[in-house]
Amino acid sequence: MDIKKVAIITSGGDVPGLNPCIRALTLLLTNLGCETYGIRRGNEGFIDGDIHILKNEDVASIINKGGTILKSSRSSRFTEKVYREQAYQNLKKHNIDALIAIGGDGSLTGMKVFSSEFDLPVIGIPKTIDNDILGTDFALGFDTSLNNAMNSIEKIRDTSESHDRIYFVEMMGRDAGFLSLSAAIASGSTEVFLPEVKGNKEKLAAKLKIAESHGGESMIILVAEGDESSGAESLCKEMKLLYPKLNMTYTILGHIQRGGQPTAFDRILAARYAYKAVENIQQGIFDVMVGIQKNDIVNVPLQEIGNKHLELNNELLLIQQKLGEVL
Ligand code: F6P
Repeated sequence: MDIKKVAIITSGGDVPGLNPCIRALTLLLTNLGCETYGIRRGNEGFIDGDIHILKNEDVASIINKGGTILKSSRSSRFTEKVYREQAYQNLKKHNIDALIAIGGDGSLTGMKVFSSEFDLPVIGIPKTIDNDILGTDFALGFDTSLNNAMNSIEKIRDTSESHDRIYFVEMMGRDAGFLSLSAAIASGSTEVFLPEVKGNKEKLAAKLKIAESHGGESMIILVAEGDESSGAESLCKEMKLLYPKLNMTYTILGHIQRGGQPTAFDRILAARYAYKAVENIQQGIFDVMVGIQKNDIVNVPLQEIGNKHLELNNELLLIQQKLGEVL
C-alpha cells in the first residue's frame, strides 16, 4: 500500500511528551516524502473536520513543551458510529491514507473500533499519566508526571516537617495506582492508598494513634484519587474524627501533575515510538499500537487494547509494603 498522506491526532487527557512525539512524527514522515496532517482538538475536531497540513516549521521549538499543539478533547460523540463515519469522511476529503493516533486506553479503544469499521490503516501510540495500558511498560507522560508529583511532594514535606503536620496528598489515577505507588517510592512516603489494594485504613489508624501518643509528627500519606477511601479530603476528615488532636490537612495535586516540560525519558520514548510508527508505515504494518516491553519497542495488535488494564507492578508493591512496615 502506497501511503502518501498521514494524519496525526492527540486525544483524551493531555500529557507531557505529546509535543516531542508530534515533532518526531512530522519530521520523520516529511523525510519519507509523506504529507503530514494534524487533526486539531482530538476526536471532536476529527468529527468536525478540523484538519490542517503540518509542516516541519510548525513543530520547531516544541520538543520541550508540555501539552499538545494539536489540542485535545474527550469526545462522547466519537462513541457513536454516525460520528465516526463523519470523521472517516473528513479523512477521505483530504485523501488521507493512514492515521496515527496518540491516546490513552479510552481513545485507543475508540480507534480499535474505528479501524475495524473503516478501510483506513491506524497506528496507535500510548500516552497516559495513569500508565495503565496493557501491552506497554510505559505510556508517554507517565515519567514526567511522576517527577512532577515527586517534586511537589518534596515541597509539601518541607512544610509538613516544619509544623509536625500530617498531609493527605491526593494524586491522579482514576482507576490505577501506578502513579501513586511510584511517587510513594520515589518520595519516600511510606503510606499510600491505591485503588488496587483494599483495607489500608486500619493500618493507618494504628500509626496515627502512635503519632498522637507522641504529641504529633510529620507524615505524608499519598491517596490515589480512585482509592476506595474517596480521596484525600474524605480520608483526612475521617481520621480527624478519630484523632482530633493531630494536626492534619490535605492537598490535591490535580492537573499540576499533567503539565510542564517533558523529561528526557519521555522525549526519548516519544522519538522511539514515532520512529517505530513511521517504520510500520514503510513496512505496511497497521492496526497496531507501538509499545515498550523490557526496553524493546514492539507492536501490539490494536484489537488487544481496552480488553484489560495493565496490572500494578508486584515488585514495586512489595517494596513499598516492606518500606511501610519500618517504624
Ligand atoms: O486519565 C488521565 C487522567 O489524568 C486521570 O488520572 C484523571 O482522573 C483524569 O485524567 C482527569 O481528567 P480531566 O483532565 O478530563 O479532568
